[in-house]
Amino acid sequence: MSAVVELDAVERSAILLAFEAGRLLRDRVGRYTTLEFKGEIDLVTEVDKASEALIAAGIAAQWPGHAMLGEEGSTTGVAVDGAEWVWIVDPIDGTTNFAHGYPHFCVSIAVARDGIGEIGVIYDPNRNELFVGRRGRNAQLNGHPIGVSDTLILKRSILATGFSYVREHRHDQIAQWTTLHDACQGIRREGSAALGMAWMAAGRTDGFYEKPINPWDISAGAIIAEAAGATVKTYAGAPYSVFDKEIVASNPHIHEELRRAVTTGGDG
Ligand code: IPD
Ligand code: CA
Ligand code: CA
Repeated sequence: MSAVVELDAVERSAILLAFEAGRLLRDRVGRYTTLEFKGEIDLVTEVDKASEALIAAGIAAQWPGHAMLGEEGSTTGVAVDGAEWVWIVDPIDGTTNFAHGYPHFCVSIAVARDGIGEIGVIYDPNRNELFVGRRGRNAQLNGHPIGVSDTLILKRSILATGFSYVREHRHDQIAQWTTLHDACQGIRREGSAALGMAWMAAGRTDGFYEKPINPWDISAGAIIAEAAGATVKTYAGAPYSVFDKEIVASNPHIHEELRRAVTTGGDG
């Protein structure tokens, strides 16, 4: 199988698994039975685990040899270290929203090959919106090409971000929010970093930043956003790579201005 044909086939699998997991979330929103706490305010329901198990089983059945890094710890049985192919999976991004019946959450799947993010798939079952991006190709929403906004300056921009489950980080993030809020038109905080990135890729906002953040929250969104024309970097200005734990992403016009504001606004 040629590399492109193989990537196309992996992309199709990722989309089908995101749909299948998304259907599960839609059926179970407000109907979970177990709520556990991974930290003081960090929730997990049995639906997070079921969604991740479904994706892990699908990968193992279709792509033996592929590894998976999932938020809830499911694996395909293949070790991530040293694997050529790694799927990076958030079975519900926006778990707190899901648990409260707030309809803003998604399934997020990135596929990396030799450490390079190749495929990003984010499915929002509430709006039936499927975002797909491929490195070096375009990004699509429900099969139609999408692109980042053309807002020229930070002052005219809408940004999005999120807050850590760790309280000490939250205090820094609030300080940063206060500074940045004065520098732009407004900041949104909807509780799903993956959708925050996907919406920025579709031009619904102009930029997204968050630190600290985990690969399963943003790697798919980063691939989609880059394919949609976004500049995606670390706080220090290095190119973002799928295992990084921080992100500043925006349309190219405002990127340096945003990155400067983010790194001088605390927690940088
Ligand atoms: C969280 C969401 C949230 C972000 C947090 C993430 P979860 O993921 O993406 O928007 O601010 O940093 O941990 O727990 O809903 O999968
Ligand atoms: Ca997440
Ligand atoms: Ca999650």
